[in-house]
Amino acid sequence: MDLKDYLDSTALQVDRLINRYFGNVAGELGKASAHLLLAGGKRFRPALLLLSADSVRKGSSIDVMPAALALELTHSFTLIHDDIMDADAFRRGVPTVHTQWDEPTAILAGDVLFATAFEFIAMADTPDHAKVRAVSMLARTCVEICEGQHMDISFESRGDVLEGEYLTMVEKKTGVLYASAAGIGAILAGGKPAHADALYAFGKGIGMAFQIQDDIIDLMAPSKVSGKDRASDLREGKKTLISIKAKEKGLDLESYQKPLTNTEIDDVIGQIEESGVLTEVRDMARGLISMGKQRIAILPASEEKQLLMDLADHFLARSF
Ligand code: IPE
Ligand code: IPE
Ligand code: MG
Ligand code: MG
Ligand code: MG
Repeated sequence: MDLKDYLDSTALQVDRLINRYFGNVAGELGKASAHLLLAGGKRFRPALLLLSADSVRKGSSIDVMPAALALELTHSFTLIHDDIMDADAFRRGVPTVHTQWDEPTAILAGDVLFATAFEFIAMADTPDHAKVRAVSMLARTCVEICEGQHMDISFESRGDVLEGEYLTMVEKKTGVLYASAAGIGAILAGGKPAHADALYAFGKGIGMAFQIQDDIIDLMAPSKVSGKDRASDLREGKKTLISIKAKEKGLDLESYQKPLTNTEIDDVIGQIEESGVLTEVRDMARGLISMGKQRIAILPASEEKQLLMDLADHFLARSF
């Protein structure tokens, strides 16, 4: 099976589960919690969890399906809260939760998904001792995401953020959730500790590269393609590898920290392309992907291992 077919078929399975559990929820808070889940999404974290499980024990993905859903719930919780923090109006092609409802409802809707994720981990058809390890890995991950998101926000008002600080921030806000997806898949499937560790490190590396590509997409992709506000990072004064490297070359993006027209955005893109920073940024992401791939060299050869490698490459090739 090629990667596209695999991703399509796992997305379909995840969508079916989401429809079963969230398709008919009652009340405004329930509807607000279900809103982004029902709007779609690439479902990469569930796919990574399922592939990791099958790569250490073929056929185990069926038993860990509820945990795959748990990762998507955790992800959606962070998105609902992230959109409040980033003042964004669109996500997955629909209005964000705090825009369609209000901030208190969005905070609570995120909390509902955060807690529900742990219920779904507990529903996996795997030994209890493995589920305890999975729960504690996911809990630690949520703490780290909060730390990463706090760094992201605190960097907005700083002009001296270093590349290393950016990398720690993306490791926490994005890398660890991909790391957990891969690690939890392997743990629940009963994989060897060395394999679970390798998959965790793989997930972290490709997850960091995923965020770097997300930063590029934020700038380059029209809203119609990304389903999100365009150039939200510029408007909010986010510190990304793009803005950090641009500043090193004398191109300060600080003055674009305001609502921007498409003409202004195109103007910034022109200047950034001229400065050559995008090539450097993509090279760094490529390095993280190849380090991640090296980490899973110890896994036995399998169709799933190949799909994991292909998924890693896709994280950089993607345009939305
Ligand atoms: C968006 O994640 C948030 C980031 C970590 C950059 P995705 O790009 O996976 O969003 P969906 O799930 O496909 O909507
Ligand atoms: C989001 O990073 C990371 C988390 C949700 C934890 P971004 O703020 O760049 O994600 P998008 O671009 O809004 O999806
Ligand atoms: Mg955001
Ligand atoms: Mg953000
Ligand atoms: Mg972004």
